[in-house]
Amino acid sequence: MTNTTSASAQKDRVIIFDTTLRDGEQCPGASMTFEEKMTVAALLDEMGVDVIEAGFPMASIGDFESVSEIARRVKHASVCGLSRAALNDIDRCAEAVKHAVRPRIHTFISTSPVHMKYKLQKTPEQVLEMISASVTRARNHVENVEWSAEDGTRTEIDFLCRCVETAIRAGANTINIPDTVGYTTPAEYEALFRTVRERVPNADQAVFSVHCHNDLGMAVANSLAGLAGGARQIECTVNGIGERAGNAALEEVVMAIDTRSDVLPYSTGINTKMLTRASKMVSAVTSFPVQYNKAIVGRNAFAHESGIHQDGMLKNTQTYEIMTPESVGVSKTSLVMGKHSGRHAFKEKLKELGYELGENALNDAFARFKDLADRKKVVYDEDIEALVDRGIAAGNERIKLVSLSIIAGTRGPQRATMKIEVDGEVHTEEAEGNGPVDATFNAIHALVPHEARLELYQVHAVTEGTDAQAEVSVRLEENGKVVTARAADPDTLVASAEAYITALNKMQMKRESINPQSVAI
Ligand code: KIV
Ligand code: ZN
Repeated sequence: MTNTTSASAQKDRVIIFDTTLRDGEQCPGASMTFEEKMTVAALLDEMGVDVIEAGFPMASIGDFESVSEIARRVKHASVCGLSRAALNDIDRCAEAVKHAVRPRIHTFISTSPVHMKYKLQKTPEQVLEMISASVTRARNHVENVEWSAEDGTRTEIDFLCRCVETAIRAGANTINIPDTVGYTTPAEYEALFRTVRERVPNADQAVFSVHCHNDLGMAVANSLAGLAGGARQIECTVNGIGERAGNAALEEVVMAIDTRSDVLPYSTGINTKMLTRASKMVSAVTSFPVQYNKAIVGRNAFAHESGIHQDGMLKNTQTYEIMTPESVGVSKTSLVMGKHSGRHAFKEKLKELGYELGENALNDAFARFKDLADRKKVVYDEDIEALVDRGIAAGNERIKLVSLSIIAGTRGPQRATMKIEVDGEVHTEEAEGNGPVDATFNAIHALVPHEARLELYQVHAVTEGTDAQAEVSVRLEENGKVVTARAADPDTLVASAEAYITALNKMQMKRESINPQSVAI
């Protein structure tokens, strides 16, 4: 179906399938609210992602609703839902994606001996029957059907070929062979695609896809090797978030293809200038920090510290830079913002940072910027990003902080007086604690009783100086479900309360969800 001759002057187009909202969201702590998912989906669509895997509709009512709303809103990309090989899962998935411009159903079943025996408790023959039945059912709903062999890289090759042939015969037009446990190596994965494509008689009727986890740190290398073996779709996530060590990072595969087109003769439809923005957005809504030395989007990715490197850079930037910061959307700082900056300058600054806000969102962000600028001498780009991302993410959350005042100091006990709105009703509480943060969290506990346990509480400054915004991260655990949340404010205690409340809102959503990988059919 695709031209894979590497000597070809024409670059083969690689389909970028983003699963930040499904595999990414599924990992411990990365859950997003409904509004956050809408924002991320809109950004992925604008960035040029070809397929957005929006969620797993059978997992919960919340997942169903967010997939279905994304399907309605996304203008260009194909919107895909994940489904197990059960007929009711597939029907539910079809219902969720039906309003998309190009709806896709992605159905999967485990094919490795260990998964079939222990997880599914099915024989290989039963699995083959289920592949045929599930793909046929999906094709009755939509034209665009993807089938995945879960734990494909630990599947016996003869059986894998039979499964792929069965799926294509039943109507699958994309075949994904995931490295579910991050076990394969580049040479092995390339050979796997070559073998399957050579041996399966109807292989030319499908696009082959890679889906790599990063347990051994090889997800990106393996994904690119899969292309050499003939795959033409890469499944990936922004910042590489995902189960355990994560998935292949979208920004890394895209920039590898873009920067090394001499040895990787492919193209993607991604606007690379939006990569930094996407990374920051996903980090803000999932509260997963991006490691400083992360390729492409880490804060040190374009920083040159040593004298020799700085000297080389001043003479010619190509000495130490293989791609420009501008190519991934890192702008050279120009406008310095403060309390005298007007609406026009603020709008220009937002443009420079990659935000295009509608009139209402802009007014709201400007009001919050003014409030911050009154409390802080210089407002840095990072401060603005923190306040805009938080505003975009804040939607119809059930629990909202109304006000907080604290009595703290050397003469304890510290005391917090808090007002919280729950489902539109305002409640007030006073609580004491062993320190102001403890008092604040005790007040939240009294207002919103819950079983969740605080696993992590972390504070760091967004920028420098004693008036810097404090960024607080909170992780909560309840019956094995984990959520993290982050909030920023010049007042550390307000940021702490906001982060804790956001985590509670996320836990509320998570309570009803199930994880596709953990459930047998
Ligand atoms: O890693 C995996 O195998 C998956 C499948 C459900 C595609 O995420
Ligand atoms: Zn996966």
